Amino acid sequence: MTIEFLLNGARRTAEIDPGESLMDLLRRLGCKSVKNGCDDGYCGTCAVLLDGRAVNACLVFAARAAGCRVQTLEGLGGEGVLHPLQRTALDLGAVQCGFCTPGIIMTSLDLLARNPRPTEHEVRDALAGNYCRCTGYVKPVEAVLAAAAEMREAPE
Ligand code: FES
Ligand code: FES
Repeated sequence: MTIEFLLNGARRTAEIDPGESLMDLLRRLGCKSVKNGCDDGYCGTCAVLLDGRAVNACLVFAARAAGCRVQTLEGLGGEGVLHPLQRTALDLGAVQCGFCTPGIIMTSLDLLARNPRPTEHEVRDALAGNYCRCTGYVKPVEAVLAAAAEMREAPE
């Protein structure tokens, strides 16, 4: 079947199998930030925004994206310019192997759109489904809080 959707602001047409996941489709279309950590909804490494809300793309059929807006990490920032969530993750040492980082950033993007002034507890709660094997979560949480403060001062 054929679907049309907006991927990072650009109209895309894709041939899909009825059982294909959104994660597999996005990776097939070149969005390699969408990681397959478990293929089963547990780890959050495949998180993307579907019509503005974070979803685990391995649990969503690609067909569900028809007519929708999909945003991946590739759609953040600009030419040579990092989004605050990307920059603070780098500056504050929240990235080690980096496998979990795109999912954490996309989940955080959803959180900050709904709650621009989250508490540490709210950030930790939002990231409860994003597993990181490297950082122990302290640095990623600090990075999200720093990005939130920066985005409040200079909204994009
Ligand atoms: S790969 Fe989707 S939640 Fe783990
Ligand atoms: S930085 Fe390695 S899994 Fe999170």
